Amino acid sequence: MVCLGNICRSPMAEGIMRSKIEKYKLQAEVDSCGTAAYHVGEQPDRRAMAKLQEHGMDISDLSGRQFEQNDFDRFDMIYVMDSQNYRNVLRLVRNENDRQKVSMIMNEVYPNGQIDVADPYFGGAGGFNDTYQMLDKATEKIAKKILKTND
Ligand code: 4NP
Repeated sequence: MVCLGNICRSPMAEGIMRSKIEKYKLQAEVDSCGTAAYHVGEQPDRRAMAKLQEHGMDISDLSGRQFEQNDFDRFDMIYVMDSQNYRNVLRLVRNENDRQKVSMIMNEVYPNGQIDVADPYFGGAGGFNDTYQMLDKATEKIAKKILKTND
């Protein structure tokens, strides 16, 4: 799960996906990072933590890190939150295999829709609710997909 700062959207996506991995008993692991380094080592934004806490999920253990090329080797799928981060990650691909791992996360819900999970950082608390709802839908699709491949 990849966003810009790794303190709002992608740690929320990681937390929600983590709970679905548990719920559906998936053989999978999830991690998150940002394409920028501004918030490396920081805990998620308190508004992101509060929104997940409302849904019984704790992401206070997460810590910001920056995307690195090695992530193409560590992960089968790389879900980016918006077109800016899509471009940032594509700049780092080494080959076609890397490129094929990268996709916009909302395309799981709206195929080829190219819909951004908007950056909630500079907005009000309502933005974090929108982020939660979008990521809940997308991670549900991803979980169902993994459930099929785990069968
Ligand atoms: P995120 O949100 O990419 O969802 O973690 C942001 C957090 C911080 C900044 C930008 C986006 N920032 O510019 O510091």
